[in-house]
Amino acid sequence: MCGIVGYVGTDQCARLLLSGLRRLEYRGYDSAGIAIADEESGEVRLCRAEGKLDKLEQAYRDEPFDGNVGLGHTRWATHGKPVESNAHPHRAGRVVLAHNGIIENYLELKEELVERGREFSSETDTEVVAHLIDEAWSNSPQLSLHEATQAALDRIEGSYALAVMATENPEELVVARNASPMVIAHGGGCAYAASDIPAVLSYTRDFIFLEDGDTAVLRREGIEVFDAEGNSTERDVKTISWDPVSAEKQGYKHFMLKEIHEQPARITDTLRGRVSVDRGEVELPELRLDEQTVQKLDKIVFVACGTSNYAAQIAKYLIEEVARIPVETDLASEFRYRNPLITDNTLAIAISQSGETADTLAAIREAGELGARTLGIVNVIESTIAREADGVIYTHAGPEIGVASTKAFTTQLAAVSMLAIKLGRLTGRLDVEEARTLIEALREVPNHMEAMLEDTSQYEQLARSYHEARSFLYLGRGHQFPIAAEGALKLKEISYIHAEGYAAGEMKHGPIALIDNEMPVVVLAPKNSVYEKVKSNLEEVKARGGRIIAIGTEGDERLETFADDIIAMPDVAEFVQPMVSALVVQLLAYYIADFKGTDIDQPRNLAKSVTVE
Ligand code: AGP
Repeated sequence: MCGIVGYVGTDQCARLLLSGLRRLEYRGYDSAGIAIADEESGEVRLCRAEGKLDKLEQAYRDEPFDGNVGLGHTRWATHGKPVESNAHPHRAGRVVLAHNGIIENYLELKEELVERGREFSSETDTEVVAHLIDEAWSNSPQLSLHEATQAALDRIEGSYALAVMATENPEELVVARNASPMVIAHGGGCAYAASDIPAVLSYTRDFIFLEDGDTAVLRREGIEVFDAEGNSTERDVKTISWDPVSAEKQGYKHFMLKEIHEQPARITDTLRGRVSVDRGEVELPELRLDEQTVQKLDKIVFVACGTSNYAAQIAKYLIEEVARIPVETDLASEFRYRNPLITDNTLAIAISQSGETADTLAAIREAGELGARTLGIVNVIESTIAREADGVIYTHAGPEIGVASTKAFTTQLAAVSMLAIKLGRLTGRLDVEEARTLIEALREVPNHMEAMLEDTSQYEQLARSYHEARSFLYLGRGHQFPIAAEGALKLKEISYIHAEGYAAGEMKHGPIALIDNEMPVVVLAPKNSVYEKVKSNLEEVKARGGRIIAIGTEGDERLETFADDIIAMPDVAEFVQPMVSALVVQLLAYYIADFKGTDIDQPRNLAKSVTVE
């Protein structure tokens, strides 16, 4: 969703702001803007544009300006259409600011401000914040910009990451955070602010992650952080190990393709140092769960959204099979509003790539408040879920830029597989020998994926044959059912082709009516405990003239009788089949979308991190 980048320093900053915004594009946006203070006059100039950054850059080239204090923003519309007047930054009097999040009480604040004679030029919730700061400052001119901002924040309810600057105050930038991420950094006479690390990763790797309620003042000489009570405070500086190159395309046509190809390395990173074949053990100290607590668990509840929810559904199969602990999965957006049954002996686990998804965050908070012990399976370090949960397992996927989740998903699967083994050992349901076998299978996954990625020409041919289909059906059983759903989600989000993922056994309870010779049916049919059942479903599709793409174990000649096309996956243990078949459905979706020429990395209407409800 929205993105913020800010700079205070000695360099002219327009290029830095625009390139920072480029690095935030992946979050999804529909308008953008920059604000820069003129060094001589202290005047802050704005340039904003509807649509993609090319339009903003063109508008900037038409009337260029520069200076060494500025901020930039990409907006994903929530309140008001994606038009230039609603694009950030917004100005009220001397104050200019950009905002991520939602001001929940903006309507009543706006009414008050209008009554006091304030004139609004946008439909956004954000503009009230600019007016409140400007009003506080005008009423008490002795206040600093930081103090005026603090006064305005006292009136606001909702979530925000804010970056504020002001005319005639060209030396500083004020930032604030509440339930929307903001990092700041200082070095070499410059200070940076960003809603996401990649925006400024080319300049620094040492970041302060602001906490909820924090505000900070950024100047050339340094930065000062204040806590929620307004007291000056110290926050640790954390060094990010991602290198800037990992956030670049590196010759791949799309970030999504690069991220698909990175999966073997990122799964290895996720397993590294955590699994021991010799000892048949998984080490997850960050879990902070001892044997006694695990023995007492009445159930595990997963909350997640989108692709992460499919990782949770696969976790249910793995954990129940291996550790024999009951597992429920809930869409986070449903969990919040259904009065869930949670006890002190429940373990609630949030799965989230970003660690900032609003519904997932609210759901795990709710579970914690109801007494559950909480755990986050998260990719972005120091994200809100990672910080708030009682324990955290980081997936080491690195920055995922493509909106469609790929390496984040398979590293989540690696994490839940390790968790299943760990819990199985702690409950005593899994002996050392069995654990060794599962760990061995897990460790082999990256090698299998490497081999599968060596030649992807078959997917290009399939894309040619199937890209005109108007609708796809994906079928799977057992833990291949969530993979079917994930395959359908991948296809629809990047190719805009309608697709549905169904439990293969459910097909005859409805979707079978859709099957004809126009409808491609992707059937996940690797050799496993439900193979014969899936094969019967395949026959049912064949009997109705469906066009079958079977994803099966290499060498399985029986599939040839039914399938129009077969994609072979390596013969791996059932426990790790989801990771391997996930790669197949990702490649299929990618090449179909690429053939259609859609905007694969930033599909229409989608945002990378959904930080509003
Ligand atoms: C998947 O391709 C999507 N990008 C989306 O479903 C995503 O998985 C969902 O929004 C959850 O995001 P999170 O993992 O950051 O919480």
